[in-house]
Amino acid sequence: MLERSLESALALAVPRPADVPPDKVRGALTDLVAQDDGPSVATYLQREAGIEQFREFVTHRSIYHLKEADPHTWAIPRLHGGPKAALVEIQADEYGGGRPERMHAELFRSTMTAIGLDDGYGAYLDRVPGITLAISNTMSLFGLHRRLRGALAGHLAALEMTSSLPNRRYATALRRLGGDQEATRFYDEHVQADAVHEQIAAHELCAGLAAQEPALAGDILYGAACALTLERHWAEHVLTRWRQGTTSLRHHDTERRAAKGAA
Ligand SMILES: [Fe+2]
Repeated sequence: MLERSLESALALAVPRPADVPPDKVRGALTDLVAQDDGPSVATYLQREAGIEQFREFVTHRSIYHLKEADPHTWAIPRLHGGPKAALVEIQADEYGGGRPERMHAELFRSTMTAIGLDDGYGAYLDRVPGITLAISNTMSLFGLHRRLRGALAGHLAALEMTSSLPNRRYATALRRLGGDQEATRFYDEHVQADAVHEQIAAHELCAGLAAQEPALAGDILYGAACALTLERHWAEHVLTRWRQGTTSLRHHDTERRAAKGAA
């Protein structure tokens, strides 16, 4: 029931991009990313955020980054040939290439502890708004259903294609706020890794999948559009709250205390 509800909400929120022939999928992905004009949380963090706002940013992202790469991994057995090899290549990097201390989820754990946050999985589940959960749940939805494998591939490509520059800004922001190498490693690592992943995801995974299964071309672009749209809604929420001088998280503890007081 929850998956059906999420899938129909996505269908309403995200217009399907125009269909293109399989050999135009890569170019269409580039166009979708280029047309995305959402506000930039990365620029705000780099230029003006205080440490409390950076902590909030990390709190939002912890919902996904502490299990980073897992939702896309579900698609591996649902692919074959070149696209499968491409996805495995990306995921191997995400999981540290055999070195646990280099797993991206572990690097993120170090970032969290360096800025005084709880690195337990789901520790902040009650503090994040629905849009933050929607970002994570959409990846899980696409990963868990064979029929959505095209959307999953496009979703991953959109993430990788929009990752390198923001991660450079996150690292700069955290250094400006006093973060050391240990704290910024997660972001530094993504500047390099995702410039490579972008090529693999757009070309070998998405264009390769569209060539294998032309009927999936539309889904690939739709998955990318879902990733971009949700990120835009999230950025609008966070920046609106920050510009109002308030928190982008839910006032969970305050509300609970108020309710107790009223009782
Ligand atoms: Fe990563």
